[in-house]
Amino acid sequence: MEREQASGLTAAFYRHLCQTSAQPLGIVVARAQGATIWDASGRAYLDLLAGMGVANVGHAHPHVVRAVAEQIEKYLHVSVYGEMVQLPQVELARRLAELTPGDLSVVYFTNSGTEAVEGALKTARKFTGRARLVAFDGAFHGDTFGALSVGGNPIYRRPFVPLLPDVEFLAFDDVEALGRIDASVAAVIVEPIQGEGGVRVPGDGFLPALRRRCTEIGALLIADEVITGFGRTGRLFACEHWQVVPDILVLAKALGGGMPLGAFVGRTEVMQTLSHDPPLAHVTTFGGHPVSCAAGLAALDVLLREHLAADAAQRGARWVAQLRTLCGGALRTVRGRGMLLALEFATPEATRRFVARCFEHDLILNWTLHCDTVVRLAPPLIISDDELERATATMAAALD
Ligand SMILES: Cc1ncc(COP(=O)(O)O)c(C=O)c1O
Repeated sequence: MEREQASGLTAAFYRHLCQTSAQPLGIVVARAQGATIWDASGRAYLDLLAGMGVANVGHAHPHVVRAVAEQIEKYLHVSVYGEMVQLPQVELARRLAELTPGDLSVVYFTNSGTEAVEGALKTARKFTGRARLVAFDGAFHGDTFGALSVGGNPIYRRPFVPLLPDVEFLAFDDVEALGRIDASVAAVIVEPIQGEGGVRVPGDGFLPALRRRCTEIGALLIADEVITGFGRTGRLFACEHWQVVPDILVLAKALGGGMPLGAFVGRTEVMQTLSHDPPLAHVTTFGGHPVSCAAGLAALDVLLREHLAADAAQRGARWVAQLRTLCGGALRTVRGRGMLLALEFATPEATRRFVARCFEHDLILNWTLHCDTVVRLAPPLIISDDELERATATMAAALD
């Protein structure tokens, strides 16, 4: 792309696309492959965010691209979700039923993570006949009204009130606080590892205690694995670190292999609640689009065939150890699981300076939505050892 064309495009981007922040990255994307995004001038950026947790098998994986091309040749959208038998949808649902923990076996496909959260919350309310919802401080579940209502940062809720009533927030990773979950609660929604909250890994007792409390009281446990799913934390699903089986598992991001796709998965009796009284009370036109499902199936193949979850566990542990040697000065701590890591800085200024320096040297990374002193690292799981070394060297230099 000519330089003039690129700058015209950038001007139109600022003028005609709704801006969501004061300082977008603004890279004029020419191509993306593996862990690299190239801009219009040919500059190559190493993407340490995997398109925000989507490209676990890398950008435009050839297997995924082929599956998309093949599906496009057959059919695109044919009917609203749930009416027709579409092979990619059925196959992906069957694979998810096999791979998700416990007896989660019925899948409802959506277009995005936030829609999957909405569906999970509605299902829980209808199934239990209860109204109250419990969520955790620091949580992020999406930006539609229901999902925002259970978002654990008041700064983002405040401009949009009134939201759902009857939502209580508990401190994350506080076992004592779980006693507040009582028999009026329809569901407790939790990220097994909080992403936007600053990559917060709970202590080993927390999720098992939460599971026990929900079972005791008859509330459904909804695990939001939109960011932690599909190998990101070193297991296929992060719940598996603690052998916790939720009642509903929420998925999106990497599920579609780069195409828009979300899902919530539950036991048969829980999910059946959406089939009746009345029927068609929770529907979607595009949810589970056949092209997205074909892409998701292909991405899942790659993930399993290349053992990317186990690989993320091993290489992530090595990477944490390397990154910890950089601590001192502005960088306080490094934490995380698998390939979902956090660099915690002393101040927001130091964080911003670090991110800007890394970007000058072609690394894409950023602080998390709720925590301006935490830089999240979530590269594609297929990132090569050489690329990881280059990223570490660049980060070390940016800290100097
Ligand atoms: C844990 C979690 N849940 C839900 C969402 C919302 O997903 P989406 O942006 O696809 O609506 C996100 C997005 O970042 C997320 O991190």
